[in-house]
Amino acid sequence: MDRFLIRGGQRLHGTLNTSGSKNAALPALAACLLTADPVTLEGIPNVRDINTMERLLAHTGATVKREGHNLTVAAHELSKPEAPYDVVKTMRASSLVLGPLVARAGVARVSMPGGCAIGARPINLHVTALESLGATTHQDHGYIEARAKDGLRGQLVTFDKITVTGTEDLMMAATLAHGETIIENAAREPEVEDVAQLLTKMGAKITGAGTSTIRVQGVKRLHGATHRIIPDRIEAGTFLIAAAITAGEVRVTGCQPLHLGALIAKLRHAGVTVTEENADTLLVSSNGPLRSTDITTEEHPGFPTDLQAQFMALMTQAAGISFVKENIFENRFMHAPELARMGANIRIDGRQAIVAGATPLSGAQVMATDLRASASLVLAALVAKGETLIDRVYHIDRGYERIEEKLQGAGADITRVA
Ligand code: EPU
Repeated sequence: MDRFLIRGGQRLHGTLNTSGSKNAALPALAACLLTADPVTLEGIPNVRDINTMERLLAHTGATVKREGHNLTVAAHELSKPEAPYDVVKTMRASSLVLGPLVARAGVARVSMPGGCAIGARPINLHVTALESLGATTHQDHGYIEARAKDGLRGQLVTFDKITVTGTEDLMMAATLAHGETIIENAAREPEVEDVAQLLTKMGAKITGAGTSTIRVQGVKRLHGATHRIIPDRIEAGTFLIAAAITAGEVRVTGCQPLHLGALIAKLRHAGVTVTEENADTLLVSSNGPLRSTDITTEEHPGFPTDLQAQFMALMTQAAGISFVKENIFENRFMHAPELARMGANIRIDGRQAIVAGATPLSGAQVMATDLRASASLVLAALVAKGETLIDRVYHIDRGYERIEEKLQGAGADITRVA
């Protein structure tokens, strides 16, 4: 099992380039199942979750061709409209195929996800939404089966709770339904908007994506298209924090500053200088002491839960008390005890972590528990004195493309060891 060996203390300097968004690419790949024509997606990151989705699409009968960062999916026939347990257990986003499969094939079988390191992560909202569109569902042997032999019917669906992949799943299904679907309390994440753009290129009629009300007018069929995925705002955000925590100066290129508003505001509050050099480049530098800063994770455009762990690592280096409140997932503080092993002073009180800084960190052997938690350990290790060995980096490989090579390019002392 791969590990990262990091020798801390280097200030990052240079350029860090952003890959395409994992969380936009996953629903975009699922959307390819909605048409028999080939769809080409550009800027797809080469990370483990995407490879898993490629396998899942192939399992359903689609062919998937990769050329560098471009993927072409052709789902001429869906011979096996299901997401088996082996795939779902490694990637919960597999539930994204539920809507497209039932809309196109009239039937879908998707393994129910179990719990995961960051919380229960049920898919009840996806299922109820599809039922509103007329699908009948049945659960047994750990699978949920949805059927809509005569097609789905447009409806008003109001989500009880904002869900990102739930919104995407329903929006995709609604593109082929009879009549209009109105989605209320929809997620407003940029990834939802990106999938809507792809679907529109495929012939779907969608308005309002990016707001909390999305309208989808169903069409008979969708066709092929070519679409470039948006930059990964979580990877870019991780790089901004990497520059800040090492008191470095870094240019983060190929990003979309508009998607990073909440993080940039908090970094500035903490005393970090962030300048928009041009439409896709941010210059970030930090040399003074960092100021304690509170964050509360919220749905977009609030502070993203996917950057909470990384920001907590940064706050261990800020003078004073910072309150970090996690509102989206119930168990997303697994990085805190690992950061504490490196010398951080963090107390967990329910959904809130109280970080007292600044504490010097020292290298230690630590364990990655989930994707974003692993990123926070890498960040802490970059500033820790001595060597840190991070175990189970397969978690980080799920969502960051060659992170060690990118960080090496900016002067970090990080190597992958077997
Ligand atoms: N929820 C339910 N029922 C559902 C769906 C969600 O109760 O049917 C709850 C969840 O348990 C959670 C909340 O609703 O408490 C919000 O979850 P959401 O459905 O929005 O999360 P998701 O769609 O499963 C996506 C990202 C996550 C990101 C969250 C929140 C993808 C593939 N995944 O997950 O990304 O944390 O939205 O922004 O888009 C990551 O990349 O590390 C990651 C975990």
